[in-house]
Amino acid sequence: MDKYVIKSEICVYQDNELSTEDRELVEAAKQATQQSYSPYSKFQVGAALRLTDGSIVTGSNQENASYPLGLCAERTAIFHAQHQRPDLPVAAIAIAAFANGHFYPEPISPCGACRQVMLEVEDRYSRPMRVLLYGTSGTHVVSTVKALLPFQFVSESLKK
Ligand code: THU
Repeated sequence: MDKYVIKSEICVYQDNELSTEDRELVEAAKQATQQSYSPYSKFQVGAALRLTDGSIVTGSNQENASYPLGLCAERTAIFHAQHQRPDLPVAAIAIAAFANGHFYPEPISPCGACRQVMLEVEDRYSRPMRVLLYGTSGTHVVSTVKALLPFQFVSESLKK
């Protein structure tokens, strides 16, 4: 038998420990929660991408009366950014969730479908994308999407 152990490193930062750039990105994700259309779950999620030219693109979850048709904040932001600026890799994504009138102490972690889409962004540009998960108790940061989705299925997998 062979055995593989996959490890992920997650760093937890307080607001004053984040760089100015990262703090700004987290703030953009927090603000994006307020643009969420989530009348069914009442769970407002915001995402903010930092493109490599320094610009920020945001998105929020968009729900539908036909529940499965809704889209998560991460994918709303990513697809918008990739349409507007396909020439620019994404350096980082920040994610925040707001419900019952407050941000949660523990960060929200992206769903599996969003992780796969985030992974495609890394794969597309051959460049890691940092992920910042905001919670009032701290922002969890990983340096690559791969830390959140080990044992990946990517374009290369189709060639084997
Ligand atoms: N949601 C996101 O926008 N991002 C996530 O990573 C998890 C869940 C949304 C989908 C749905 O509109 C609501 O949160 C409740 O699941």
